[in-house]
Amino acid sequence: MIPEGVKIPEHIAIVMDGNGRWASSRGLPRTAGHKAGAETFRRIATHCSRIGLPYLTVYAFSTENWKRPEAEVRTIMELLRRYLIEAREKMVQENTALRIIGDQSRLPEPLRALIRETDELSKRTNGLRVNVCLNYGARDEITRAVRAIARDAAAGKVDAGEITADYISSRLDTAGIPDPDLIIRPGAEHRLSNYLLWQAAYAELYFSDTLWPDFDEEELDRAIVWFSTRKRRFGGV
Ligand code: FPP
Repeated sequence: MIPEGVKIPEHIAIVMDGNGRWASSRGLPRTAGHKAGAETFRRIATHCSRIGLPYLTVYAFSTENWKRPEAEVRTIMELLRRYLIEAREKMVQENTALRIIGDQSRLPEPLRALIRETDELSKRTNGLRVNVCLNYGARDEITRAVRAIARDAAAGKVDAGEITADYISSRLDTAGIPDPDLIIRPGAEHRLSNYLLWQAAYAELYFSDTLWPDFDEEELDRAIVWFSTRKRRFGGV
């Protein structure tokens, strides 16, 4: 429960970490951890919608995760495919939007077709905006943006002096999405792991020892209440 008067942030971003350890500690294959993690994601997204959060972003698959065993990669992609199908059926009725953040060029065409469909449906909703980072890495995102800006400059569309922080933001995958106010990392690791490095400039960071499959609505509420006690100065006094 979030006490009355506590201000809900505009944008929460989560690193869904600890699925593998959760499964190993139960003698289960790592893939069982990702399945449990996908269920936790559904519960947390439903809760975010209920409390009126405008933006939720989750890290589902990084540009480095291709190095994992093939069966694990396949399981995560299948969980995402199922989620996209489910979103296609329910998102308009539930008034939620879905946006996939990351380099889609390496994704299989059937997945990209589903993404195009959910992008279209998202235009009809104005509730919770869910962003799923898939084949995402902040350095890769920034590299692709720099290339796009270099192309703009070479084509005479922009002068070097006109390239501002806002202009750079507008060329990132997250263009149009406000920066995260609160980044939550469960799983007992204290690092950003190439997640939203540009956008995290002024985010409050909340770390928790809970493994992602065990993360629940109550803990999200605790993170929000903690966030509401932070004094954000954005470099001022
Ligand atoms: C990190 O935990 C988690 C991942 C790399 C995958 C996250 C994917 C899902 C939760 C499923 C698909 C998501 C959606 C949105 C349907 P880890 O495996 O690195 O955990 P460990 O540190 O314990 O090994």
